[in-house]
Amino acid sequence: MKYQSPKGVSEYFPPRSSGFEFVRDKLLAPIKNAGYQLLELPVFEDTELFTRGVGESTDVVSKEMYTFEDRGGRSITLRPEGTVGALRSIIEHGLDRSALPVKVFYCGPFFRAERPQAGRYRQFYSLGIEAVGSDDPALDAEVIALAYEGFYGIGLRKFRLDITSLGDADSRKAHRVDLLAYIEKLNLDDPTRARAGINPLRLFDDKRPEVSSLMAKAPRLLDYLSEDSSEHFKKVQGYLSAMGIPFSINPLMVRGLDYYTGTTFEFVHEDLGAQSGIGGGGRYDGLMENIGGQNISGIGFGLGIDRALLAAEAEGILESHHVSPLLYLIPLGEKAKNVALKLSHQIRNAGLAVEVSMGDKALKNAMKSADKSGAIYTCVLGDSELESGNVELKEMISGNATSVTLSALLTTLQLKTVKK
Ligand code: HAM
Repeated sequence: MKYQSPKGVSEYFPPRSSGFEFVRDKLLAPIKNAGYQLLELPVFEDTELFTRGVGESTDVVSKEMYTFEDRGGRSITLRPEGTVGALRSIIEHGLDRSALPVKVFYCGPFFRAERPQAGRYRQFYSLGIEAVGSDDPALDAEVIALAYEGFYGIGLRKFRLDITSLGDADSRKAHRVDLLAYIEKLNLDDPTRARAGINPLRLFDDKRPEVSSLMAKAPRLLDYLSEDSSEHFKKVQGYLSAMGIPFSINPLMVRGLDYYTGTTFEFVHEDLGAQSGIGGGGRYDGLMENIGGQNISGIGFGLGIDRALLAAEAEGILESHHVSPLLYLIPLGEKAKNVALKLSHQIRNAGLAVEVSMGDKALKNAMKSADKSGAIYTCVLGDSELESGNVELKEMISGNATSVTLSALLTTLQLKTVKK
């Protein structure tokens, strides 16, 4: 029996996994530098949290959730997204009872039963932030900037930022009346009409050409913004411009989740074909209250790590990011193995990277492995080295060797890293 991973999941193994790690860490760096703190969340939650928080008109809730009954008969769902779980945790632990905004990040696997294709997986990896408890437009701009800085830090250049505003409740109310009246006159099938009944904006996101051509002439929310919303959106644009972050306004953007209000945004990469959204997010007035919290606004984003990696590969900016060891130790014989293990333990404790040749390889084979590891130095430990207490520290690139006493090996390595 040969087992395979379940259909449509992404998984990362060496050497590509080092690229995954690189991309994730680069996306995380600006977030940590802006004071966001880790929220480590469960990958499953009560189903109702998602139906209520994400919205029943969305594909995510109506078609894509991995929902099952647990052994206690409770309905459980593998998280399809991170925002509502993060807010549930913020509310449950009272994080929003201290200084606001609460600023958290989270990272890990998410699950959507979508039709798998390049860049679209049933288990995918995403990194998200949420800033809850302030409606300052500067926060919107900062959140967008953090995603931008992350993508830029990876080295990505062929991406664009689309933004729009879904306005406040007044803006959406005025727009909804006109939009429903417009939709009413269209010739639509019953399921589409039902979706429009829950959230008419969803129709702007319908990929069927017959629907999208009808929707091209529909009233646009951006033309209905209240004075407050319009002012807020203008400020966000002003701050982005002040930071030198290029963006386009896309009034037809519809995010796949129902909780968005106000500023919403998406990052789109040029080289990824159909699954080109590498990240997106926005504000969510009302979501905290909807799932049992205070009536405070928040904003956040989710960045697709799988897609950011594909984008980096497409732009050819990902060399191997495997961390090569500083030293590769080759023990010859049982006695030397003991010494090599002890030395490697000391060297790692000092924060340096070291690998030890395993499996009693002959010197030639062990040297091949050392070469493959990318180690900067190698050191052979045989009986004569143990007797004399001296080893040859060989620099792999130049082939130059220096004689070092065993007891001074660690200090020598430390000095060499300082010099670099
Ligand atoms: P989202 O746009 O649904 O937003 O997902 C975030 C990112 O995850 C997407 O931009 C995309 O790169 C990636 N992604 C989504 N689905 C898949 C998939 N099936 N396979 C591979 N990658 C995928 C959210 O989830 C919101 N919670 C973001 C947010 C946070 N909004 C406010 N706060």
